[in-house]
Amino acid sequence: MVDALKKNGKISRKGPVVLVIMDGVGFGKYKEGDGVAAALTNNLNKLYKTSPWTKLKAHGLAVGLPSDDDMGNSEVGHNAMGCGRVFAQGAKLVASSIETKAMFQGNTWTKLIGNTKTKNSTLHFIGLLSDGNVHSNIENLKAMVLQAKADGVKKVRVHALLDGRDVGELSALEFFDPFAAFLKELSDESFDAMIASGGGRMVITMDRYNANWDMVKKGWETHVLGEGRSFSSAHEAINTLRAETGAIDQDLPPFVIAKDGKPVGTIEDGDSVILFNFRGDRALEITKAFEAENLTEFDRKRRPAVEYAGMMEYDGDLHLPAQYLVQPPAIDKTMAEYLCASSVKQFSISETQKFGHVTYFFNGNRSGKFDDKLEEYVEIPSDILPFEQRPWMKCAEIADRVIAEVEAGKWDFIKLNFPNGDMVGHTGNFEAVVCSMEAMDLQIGRIYQAVSKAGGVMVITADHGNADDMFEHAKNGDVKFKENGDPQSKTSHSLNPVPCIIVDSAYNGEYSKELNAGLGISSIPATCMNLMGYDAPEDYDKSIINLN
Ligand code: 3PG
Ligand code: CO
Repeated sequence: MVDALKKNGKISRKGPVVLVIMDGVGFGKYKEGDGVAAALTNNLNKLYKTSPWTKLKAHGLAVGLPSDDDMGNSEVGHNAMGCGRVFAQGAKLVASSIETKAMFQGNTWTKLIGNTKTKNSTLHFIGLLSDGNVHSNIENLKAMVLQAKADGVKKVRVHALLDGRDVGELSALEFFDPFAAFLKELSDESFDAMIASGGGRMVITMDRYNANWDMVKKGWETHVLGEGRSFSSAHEAINTLRAETGAIDQDLPPFVIAKDGKPVGTIEDGDSVILFNFRGDRALEITKAFEAENLTEFDRKRRPAVEYAGMMEYDGDLHLPAQYLVQPPAIDKTMAEYLCASSVKQFSISETQKFGHVTYFFNGNRSGKFDDKLEEYVEIPSDILPFEQRPWMKCAEIADRVIAEVEAGKWDFIKLNFPNGDMVGHTGNFEAVVCSMEAMDLQIGRIYQAVSKAGGVMVITADHGNADDMFEHAKNGDVKFKENGDPQSKTSHSLNPVPCIIVDSAYNGEYSKELNAGLGISSIPATCMNLMGYDAPEDYDKSIINLN
């Protein structure tokens, strides 16, 4: 338990502090492909002119990633905005556990390897095959396969998802081909390793926040049951399915690798299974499918008795999965916990796609509340269709509810996430991104009216960039073009800084309008606490405002 926060005795507002997280909205580095700058955002433009604002770092070391070459992502971004400090994150912790070999000396690894050796069974790996370092890293997988062979495992099967969302949209073969060659090279009379199944990450296995369990069902059929269209290799599958569907990697249909008409790697009783993704949001549902005694979301047809482990503990509240390889970052003393200890009433809202971001990620990867009486979480159901078809998503519905809550006057702190910049940004569709930004801006204008009227404060920021960087650029900054002359779309996040605007209609000189510069998004909690009238905890990263 944490102590109550101390009042700063300086700021007191009639209305709530409203934290608006514009997911995936940064300041573009290039004019071409900057879907934020290209949009008509009169409300935001007005706020930039009339309110103090600054740029915050939202990638690399500033959010606990291994290096400044790592783009930010929603997990690490919301963790930082939720706990006011920077923790070494999954990407870093897993890499170091492998480097020091701590992973391979741990109980979970030893147990899973022992299981396959005693039962002469198969070790399966399931996960995202890329170097995106958001959910997984192919280098971790390679190290684990090498170690499995060294430890005497006889048979390895890899169920590999195509990324195209945290890496180039058509980059899958750059990962699959060398990886298949790597497995072939390792295989000999005592070791048999190959890719057994796969598919696009937005089609199978990696659903999140219970948005679409059908994806997990398809993943189960593909990886576990070996049901579905079969090919002789992943290379053949990817080329054929691309030619047939024109899909980018994340949307490629599932495939099973078969030999002589039989799938090469169904998951059977006695096998061991490692989900090698370290990030939790898109790992929890498939984990449940393996672990739940009774599953109501879909019919598994057959549930093999396996030793199952995740790369990390994905939910620190529910302790899922039961077995994991690396201890997650020990994110403690989060802002929500402090605010509960201080009797601050808090309301959190987003639509399904980002609901867990403002709750589970914000609270340090815990799905529960700190205090039922002080907190309310609201999820607006997301559409289940490609977001380029509905780029406005549910921003109006989110705003409607926020405005109603502001008017009702019950809450001291309201936080919301607008997913538009990120979810539409990931589609790579520039026109849709511009539309999404304009839709979101209209809603920010409406919320602004309500919050000003209530005498509250808005803190408008983002978790990382995405919509600000929609075209691939060469090293010299030139846009890369496709053969047909269109710019090459970029579906992944950007390394760009994000805005932080403090919109305080009741400002009365309590702090300097000159905001602190050079900070990261871990400064948001201290800033919000100050604006709510509290001093931030001593070990929190510095606030963006200086109280007078
Ligand atoms: C995803 O899971 O959609 C992407 O890998 C990362 O997006 P997010 O970090 O914005 O959720
Ligand atoms: Co994203």
